[in-house]
Amino acid sequence: MSPNFPLLRKSSRNPMVAVLAAFGALALITGSFATSAGAVETSGGSVVTLGTGKAGQKLIRQGVRFKATAPATRKKLSKGKARIAASANDARVGDAATVSLRGGLVLKRGKRQLKLRGLVLKSGANQTTVKAKLGGKQTTIGKVNGSSLISADAGTVEMSGGKFSLAGKAINKTKQKLRLKKSPKGVIGKMDVEVQAAFEDPYLAECGLAADTKTAGTLPAATPPPSLSGAVSTNGNPVNWGVKLSLRGYIAGVGKIVGLDGAVVNELPFPGPPPTGFTWPDEAEYAANGPGAGDDQAVLNGSGSILFCNEPHGFRIVLSDPTVVIDGANSRLIADVDTNTTDLGTGISDWIPAQRIDFATLDTSAVAPAAGAGTLTWTEVPTRLTAAGAESLRLCEGNPGPCTYVEGAEFDPITVTVKTAG
Ligand code: HEM
Repeated sequence: MSPNFPLLRKSSRNPMVAVLAAFGALALITGSFATSAGAVETSGGSVVTLGTGKAGQKLIRQGVRFKATAPATRKKLSKGKARIAASANDARVGDAATVSLRGGLVLKRGKRQLKLRGLVLKSGANQTTVKAKLGGKQTTIGKVNGSSLISADAGTVEMSGGKFSLAGKAINKTKQKLRLKKSPKGVIGKMDVEVQAAFEDPYLAECGLAADTKTAGTLPAATPPPSLSGAVSTNGNPVNWGVKLSLRGYIAGVGKIVGLDGAVVNELPFPGPPPTGFTWPDEAEYAANGPGAGDDQAVLNGSGSILFCNEPHGFRIVLSDPTVVIDGANSRLIADVDTNTTDLGTGISDWIPAQRIDFATLDTSAVAPAAGAGTLTWTEVPTRLTAAGAESLRLCEGNPGPCTYVEGAEFDPITVTVKTAG
């Protein structure tokens, strides 16, 4: 079974697995995986069973037969029905999905035939439009009623048993071309779609770790930072944090740590052995809430990415655009966490694209901010991993040893300095 296709892999109870396997599409999928160099190519396809609806049965009664143009394949079914399987050539999956298929459908009556090639499916949540070349022009030739499961994050689209009807000019064209007595209006078949759009691990160049699958993250989104009243906005209050000393040691020893888009891997004198910690350049906001600094608030929006690349052990973690929030008991560090982790049992590396989460809590309860020349500094604020932070890292998933990366785990303390005047 294809290792790069989560929908197909998920369960063999899925009828599409049988359908695609039966028509050779799966072989194509597996083939494309085998030849990919670090990237997953578009895979899956569509299977159309023609002759099933009322209009489809009418077509059969009028002597119409269903064929395929290569590389789409046809399997004859009972009573004139046929199943056409076409693999996906290209797929774009966002809120809607656009899938172009290889080969085409042919409606044949005696020597007369209508070929529908260049098939393109455009799927929304509840309806799919089918385009094809008709009279040399790409035009809408069909509609499919049925819900599609579209995941923009995973790049997948899935539909089962959609009701396929001819539409637009294709109705009359079919009637004329095949010399039918009646217009082929109504449902003529059933359509199944299961497609995985191509993707590549976004940090393949730096970390060298390919992604076999792509899974949408399910973690709760970060609580937005507070909006500060009477805030002072300043530049140049970098977020300096080492994340976790032992993690730095592990990754730097086995793999490598890389700074991207302005984020820097520091040398000494940042505390700890090299690589010593990280700096994300930032813009900040600061609000003095009345006399005394104890209730002052600050939001520091760091930018850039630090890549923890451990290709030899099959995983990487990328922490991007950290936002430090100093806000009493709600003090925390928000970050984008993007991971690729290999299941050591199956060898499948699964990419979960960036999720912006409340990553760590900052305990400012015992830290009195110290005023400098136009700055305020909270020194060595203890940080702890949140539940979402622990889950986001996936460090306990493949880890052969005991895992300490759980909710509440102590991370490196963070020293936060913010400018108090513009
Ligand atoms: C997805 C796969 C893996 C994950 C998520 C993972 C995760 C981890 C974590 C969280 C630690 C502790 C880091 C720390 O001290 O804070 C660790 C340590 C370690 N891992 Fe992995 N690991 C993985 C695969 C492997 C593999 C395949 C090997 C061996 C070939 C390996 C060998 C080690 C060793 C030797 C240490 C101890 C390093 C030290 O203390 O210096 N890991 N791993």
